[in-house]
Amino acid sequence: MISWLCCAWTFILLLPGLSDGGKLLVVPMVGSHWLSMQEVVEKLSERGHEVVVVLPEVSWQTATTQAYTVKTYPVSRTLEELDNAFQQYVAAHLKEMPSPLKVLELYKSSVHVFNTFFTQCRDLFNSKETLQYLNQSGFDAILTDPAFMCGAVVANHFSLPFVFFMRGFPCSLHYTAPQCPNPLSYIPRLFTFNSDRMTFFQRVENALISLLELVYCNGFYEDALTLSSEILQRDVSLLDLLNSASIWLLRFDFVFEYVRPVMPNMVFVGGINCAKKKPLSKASPFFSKLCIFR
Ligand SMILES: *[C@@H]1O[C@H](CO)[C@@H](O)[C@H](O)[C@H]1NC(C)=O
Repeated sequence: MISWLCCAWTFILLLPGLSDGGKLLVVPMVGSHWLSMQEVVEKLSERGHEVVVVLPEVSWQTATTQAYTVKTYPVSRTLEELDNAFQQYVAAHLKEMPSPLKVLELYKSSVHVFNTFFTQCRDLFNSKETLQYLNQSGFDAILTDPAFMCGAVVANHFSLPFVFFMRGFPCSLHYTAPQCPNPLSYIPRLFTFNSDRMTFFQRVENALISLLELVYCNGFYEDALTLSSEILQRDVSLLDLLNSASIWLLRFDFVFEYVRPVMPNMVFVGGINCAKKKPLSKASPFFSKLCIFR
């Protein structure tokens, strides 16, 4: 009975004309992330929302559609520089070397990728014209994939409500920012390769790695933290940038996750990354490589 009522109401709310469309700003993330987000953005636009996607002038995205407005801003990095950073990142994954060195190499190349792409966010904030446009457009909300953190910085700058649509952060930020309990006793941390049933020593290992989590994400997002502290004119931490997200639409499925408590504003929307099943064209090999980012 309740589910019927629910369905009926959802249906009525979705009827075009009965609900007023809102004005949505989309700050996407490059590569495979955008492939799935694009589908959602097109649907939102079909349902009568006015959607503006803000994009760097140079990017891997090819946003050719009438469904939404694209607002671009000038950038300082060339496509070649972006490609190089990403190639280094991929090469670091493929390189054979002893474990501790490999971890260091992966860390260094990840920091490099994050910083290289984050310069595009700095470019956005350097473009007075774009900022003015965004400020004057009167958006109701922001939808963003915050993997490189730019959407979160923009949302905090304009004090707009924001919704995350993402595959998750490194260092479990998507659990710590919404303040989920994250018990070390049965939630294995990334890279420990433990299961949810740990021996005493595995728990100790889990605890040590969870201490590292606090450190390595600050490295990935160092530039994001510097920029946001500058523009918000206060000391900003990663949790400050993320914890006021209204909804977390998480692009993974609970069957792949260990049992754990989550907050009511976290919604598991399933693995819809790379939703388009067409074979990849030769012209865009980076999209296929970018799936590693998931
Ligand atoms: C947006 O514009 C208004 C009016 O011009 C101004 O007062 C406000 O500071 C601007 N906000 C941001 C975040 O730039």
